Amino acid sequence: MEELKKAYNYVYNIIKRKVSYGLILGSGLGGVTDSFENKIEISYNEIPEFPVSTVPGHDGRLVFGEYNGKFAVLMKGRFHFYEGYEPSRVVYGVRLMKLLGVEKLIITNAAGGVNTEFNPGDLMIITDHIGLFAPSPLRGPNFSEFGPRFPDMSYAYNPELIRIAEACAKKLNIPVRKGVYVFTQGPMFETPAEIRAIRILGGDAVGMSTVPEVITANHCGIKVLGISCISNMAAGVLDQPLSHEEVMETGDRIKPLFISFVKEILDRI
Ligand code: HPA
Repeated sequence: MEELKKAYNYVYNIIKRKVSYGLILGSGLGGVTDSFENKIEISYNEIPEFPVSTVPGHDGRLVFGEYNGKFAVLMKGRFHFYEGYEPSRVVYGVRLMKLLGVEKLIITNAAGGVNTEFNPGDLMIITDHIGLFAPSPLRGPNFSEFGPRFPDMSYAYNPELIRIAEACAKKLNIPVRKGVYVFTQGPMFETPAEIRAIRILGGDAVGMSTVPEVITANHCGIKVLGISCISNMAAGVLDQPLSHEEVMETGDRIKPLFISFVKEILDRI
């Protein structure tokens, strides 16, 4: 908490105002902030105690700006469990957002398609998640300033935000999917047997991010909207190996559509 307060003081002294919503976007979607006005950028490494990202393609800064009269922050570059961070460090930015006043959070990611009806390039509104395969970011003493010891996760993905996202997809004529996102620790992709097991458990998509942030956001009462870009079919669905290049390629291809979808949502929240 002391660390977080230092980070908060540092950032607040620069921006000097409350932030309404936050964005944590998968790599390549930073273009959303092109439409922000009066931008202020703060590099992670100048913020006291803030973790620093190690993944190529994830640059590390907070981008603040006005969008439709509301003040927003984008975390450009995020932290993953597979990089070696403690789960509580992965979610540092979410807690900082809470201190800055954030009420709604939009999180996007790249994910493997487990549901065989899906295709690479599909967008999926996350309706729920399965996070059983990794330690919780809330493990350890409870930060009661943020929320209760045993937070409810019944509506982890806010139903109203899901409705808004669906309406936006309809307006833009984007054939969006809905489904359950399953968190795996990574950094290796899953085995075909793991993917079959995940399918039986009820998963539609699989990925290595998002769930820790969503748990933390729910703990501290931030409403979440989650959207996955299905960047590849998960292991064993097709008779071919998986690669990070494929994930990046699909992400690049879908980027303009994904950005316009997120902007449309921002117009309505
Ligand atoms: N598995 C896990 N994470 C991912 C995948 C996948 O197939 N694709 C993109 N992120």
